[in-house]
Amino acid sequence: MKIINVTGARPNMMKVAPLIKEIKIHKELTPLLLHTGQHYDEKMSKVFFNDLSMPEPDIYLGVGSGSHAVQTAKVMVEFEKVLLSENPDFVVVVGDVNSTMACAITAVKLHIPVAHVEAGLRSFDRTMPEEINRIVTDSVSDYLFTTSEDANENLKKEGIPAEKIFFVGNVMIDTLLNHKEKADRSDITQRLGLKKGEYAVLTLHRPSNVDGKESLERILDALLYIQKRIKIVFPVHPRTLKMIKEYGFSDITKEIKNLIILEPLGYLDFLKLMNDAMFVLTDSGGIQEETTILQIPCLTLRENTERPVTVMEGTNTIVGNDKERIIKEAENILNNGGKAGRVPKLWDGRAAERIVEIIIKREIRRKGENGEMEKDS
Ligand code: UD1
Repeated sequence: MKIINVTGARPNMMKVAPLIKEIKIHKELTPLLLHTGQHYDEKMSKVFFNDLSMPEPDIYLGVGSGSHAVQTAKVMVEFEKVLLSENPDFVVVVGDVNSTMACAITAVKLHIPVAHVEAGLRSFDRTMPEEINRIVTDSVSDYLFTTSEDANENLKKEGIPAEKIFFVGNVMIDTLLNHKEKADRSDITQRLGLKKGEYAVLTLHRPSNVDGKESLERILDALLYIQKRIKIVFPVHPRTLKMIKEYGFSDITKEIKNLIILEPLGYLDFLKLMNDAMFVLTDSGGIQEETTILQIPCLTLRENTERPVTVMEGTNTIVGNDKERIIKEAENILNNGGKAGRVPKLWDGRAAERIVEIIIKREIRRKGENGEMEKDS
C-alpha cells in the first residue's frame, strides 16, 4: 500500500512525524511524504524536519502564501497531478489548515481513500478558517481519527456513521513524549538568561487577534501591564510581525521592557521554553494541548476552543482578547498558581500506532472484499 502523508503548515509537522515513523515499521506499507509548501520559511518549516528527524519530503508542491481561495486552489491543482502520477492507495491528512482540506477534497474526488487525523474538533465558530477546513475535511474523509470523545460526539451529530470514527488519542502528544528528553537538553533558557518558573511565553497568530488593529492593541495593552510582574517571551509568527509593522506598533513592542521578542523557534527550543515557563498565553490550538501534558497553566486568547478537553481536564482557561480579563487571569496565576489538570484519555504516546494498525486491518479487508488483492498480485 502506497500512502501519501500530507504536511503543509507548521502545526502539521509534529502530527505527521510519528505517522511516518510508524508506517515505516510495516513492510507492507510504503510512505510518501508530501509538503504543500503552505509554510516555506526556514523557521516555519525546515527547522521542524531537523528537530523531529523527519525525512526530506518526497514531493514538494511549493504553493506558498495567498488568499484562502488562491492557496487552496493551488494545492488542489498541484496535488491532483501528483495523485495521477503516483497512483497512491491511500492519503493521510492532519489538522485543519488549508492544505488539509485541499488535499482531502482532491483525493476523494479521484476515489482514493482519505484518513483525517485529528477529526471532529469544533469551535462552532464559522468565522475561523480552520472551522470550515475541519467541517469539509471530516465530511469527505473515509477514516476519522479523533483525539477526544467530544470529537466523536460532534461527528455523530453531523450524521457521520459510527464505523468511520476511531478514537485513537493524540499524535501531537506522541511527538511531545518522544522528544521531551531531547528538548530538556535545549539551552534556549540559558541563552535568554531565563530561570525556570520566572517567565511567561506568548504566541499569537489568529486572524481574529492580529489582523484587526483594535484586538491587537487590546492584547498589547494587557501585555504592557503583565510584563511589570513577569518577563514575557514572544516568538513572533510572520503573520503577526507583518500586522505589527502595518499598524505601526513596532516601536511600542520594542519599548515594552520585559517583552522578549524572538523569531519563530524550532520544536525542541519551544518545547523547553514552555516546559520551564510559569504560564503560557496563546491563541494556538496545539499549544493548549501541549501545556496540558506539560502541566503548565495556559491562558487561551480566544473566545472559544475546539479542544474543550484541555479546559475540562487540562490546564487551559479561555480568556478571549479583552484586556481586563487577560490581566485578571494572569494575575490569578501570578498570585495563586494555575490549574494543574490531568492527562486526557489515550494521550499516551501511542496514537500513531493505533492509527496505522486500523488502516492496515481495514484497508486489507476492504481490498480483499473488492478482489483488489488478487488483482494487485
Ligand atoms: C496557518 C493556518 C493556521 C495555523 C497556522 C500555524 C490556515 C487557514 N491557517 O495560518 O490554521 O494555525 O498556519 O502557523 O491554513 N508567512 C511567511 N512565511 C511562511 C508562511 C507564511 O512569511 O513560511 C506569512 C505570509 O505573509 C502569509 C502569512 O504569513 O501571507 C499567513 O500564512 P498562511 O499560511 O496563510 O496562514 P497562517 O497565519 O500561517
